[in-house]
Amino acid sequence: MSTREFRIWRGAAGEGDFASYRVEVNEGEVVLDLVHRLQATQAPDLAVRWNCKAGKCGSCSAEVNGRPRLLCMTRMSALPPDGPVVLTPLRAFPSVRDLVTDVGFNYAKAREVPSFVPPPGLAPGEYRMAQQDVERSQEFRKCIECFLCQDTCHVVRDHEENKPAFAGPRFLMRLAELDMHPLDAAPDRKRAAQEEHGLGYCNITKCCTEVCPEHIRITDNALIPLKERVADRKYDPLVWLGSKIGRR
Ligand code: SF4
Ligand code: F3S
Ligand code: FES
Repeated sequence: MSTREFRIWRGAAGEGDFASYRVEVNEGEVVLDLVHRLQATQAPDLAVRWNCKAGKCGSCSAEVNGRPRLLCMTRMSALPPDGPVVLTPLRAFPSVRDLVTDVGFNYAKAREVPSFVPPPGLAPGEYRMAQQDVERSQEFRKCIECFLCQDTCHVVRDHEENKPAFAGPRFLMRLAELDMHPLDAAPDRKRAAQEEHGLGYCNITKCCTEVCPEHIRITDNALIPLKERVADRKYDPLVWLGSKIGRR
């Protein structure tokens, strides 16, 4: 057993300051264990959101030493051994209290992406897809909606003004999934991605991929292919002609 200093942002609605605590640390513990110990011993009113403590609900997202992380999946032993552990709420979203943020931005963006449109003339149960198409969707479906990727993307992290025009990596990935889905019958996902959801703002920094706790290759497998498909549609004369004929 040892102890460690924590500096935790305490406050509400963006007003507040850091508070320091010294907390007992035991072998194998994760940051959320320490937050719970703090609540039990020194700071019963410390607000934190969590649910599963297994890396699957996406609730415990916050920033540890400035990096977006799941508190329940961040082992104390993986952090630098010296200096305080600094806990702050997700920076890209409005603060509610202490480590809790209002992630409603993401739900609003989710509602802006129309869901899968079934192919005409086929009933559920009659759909047939190649295994590789199933596997492509399954990678994206591992998303636990922790919104760490949304928090880290520089397009909105430091630019509140971009939020209305930019869906963020999680929802651009959803558009990519649907656009590459062989049975999705919705028209114009590519045009919508570019013109309504801000695909062009993404300059492929890959920060979203680096923080994804599900190790989804957001940039390589969703965003870059979607950009390529948008470019094909715009600049390849055969693809352009095909899209016009196909729409008749
Ligand atoms: Fe979280 Fe990854 Fe889903 Fe983004 S894509 S919300 S980082 S699980
Ligand atoms: Fe942002 Fe990811 Fe693109 S971090 S800039 S959406 S590659
Ligand atoms: Fe569910 Fe951390 S508590 S992901």
